Amino acid sequence: MTIPHVAVNKLDRNVKNKIEKKIAAIISSGQFVSGQEVEQFEKLFSSYIQTKYAIGVSTGTDALYLGCKALGIKNEDEIILPAMSFFATLSPIVHLGAKPIFVDTLPDSPHIDPSQIEKKLSKKTKAIIAVHMNGYPSDVTEIKRISKKYNLFFIEDACQAHGSTYNKKPMGSFGDFAAFSFYPSKNLGAFGEAGAVTTSHASLFKKIQLLRNHGQIKKYIHSMYGFNNRLDEIQAAVLNEKLQVLSKENQNRRKIAQKYLKDLDNSHLQLPVEEKNIVTNYHNFVIRTPKRDLLKKYLLSKNIHTGIHYPVPLHLQPAVKGKVGSFKNAEKYADECLSLPMYPSLSNREIEYVVDHVNKFFK
Ligand SMILES: Cc1ncc(COP(=O)(O)O)c(C=O)c1O
Repeated sequence: MTIPHVAVNKLDRNVKNKIEKKIAAIISSGQFVSGQEVEQFEKLFSSYIQTKYAIGVSTGTDALYLGCKALGIKNEDEIILPAMSFFATLSPIVHLGAKPIFVDTLPDSPHIDPSQIEKKLSKKTKAIIAVHMNGYPSDVTEIKRISKKYNLFFIEDACQAHGSTYNKKPMGSFGDFAAFSFYPSKNLGAFGEAGAVTTSHASLFKKIQLLRNHGQIKKYIHSMYGFNNRLDEIQAAVLNEKLQVLSKENQNRRKIAQKYLKDLDNSHLQLPVEEKNIVTNYHNFVIRTPKRDLLKKYLLSKNIHTGIHYPVPLHLQPAVKGKVGSFKNAEKYADECLSLPMYPSLSNREIEYVVDHVNKFFK
């Protein structure tokens, strides 16, 4: 038996049929860009996330960049972010000329430690970015409290958190804006690159709409300098169909996680803990052990593929120059985290096979 870490090609049969029909219709119509699929997706997704607006864009990275640009983030501004995330949380800030200010993560999670934020603030601080890593929500209450107290923007990197909730409200509805990625391996994945910004601020919505399309107010008339960061019709069509089964698929992931949690022997492992007020979409099911590299190798020898999200924290990336500090919790997390196979159609037999081998490794 070979078990992949993610399985982006295993689609619900019904959904696959509907997508194939829609793509055929788009090919016949020739409307590949700026059509009704994108419009429909923006309506459906904003309603799903419970924000006034959603703007389809080309990637999650662009969603972060355009949102920050629309907030007016620029040269010399300081932006607070966790030391652990995918590199794309960091690069848009740097491209805008702003300075990233890293904050360590909580001891038991890859999320920003809110108690470390206030000492990192300065007169130049403009925003705090929280990353809902692995689909698990950050401590929104505390981060919002700090943002409000110091009049800072609150940005959600919700690129992994489609359908996760905090106090029953969807992630992506808390920040001044949130960025989503629809990279194929995400819980809501396109057939290529795609992303979205969600916000309830009308002014941000209008700015981002313009920025993603060359600042064009009507055909060939441009009111500002923008970019081409549009979402295309085929990706929007895929997302419209896959959004219909997202909640069901997230529930499947949660059932799989329950099985893992019940049967994995936790005497040598740290397993994910779910707090009462959150529901995670289990984008990744992450276990922790100091023997991570050996365990990964052992599982691979049994044809079980796993992932590491992420092996190098942001502050230690070769691109990051200068003294930015050391962040022990994030470094330890990077050394110990291992993402087990997780996708909605993982079968009981496959789960048992993974559990057996993880438990055997420690025996
Ligand atoms: C936390 C996080 N932020 C940002 C991104 C960037 O999204 P994209 O790959 O769509 O540009 C990703 C995607 O992997 C992500 O996981």
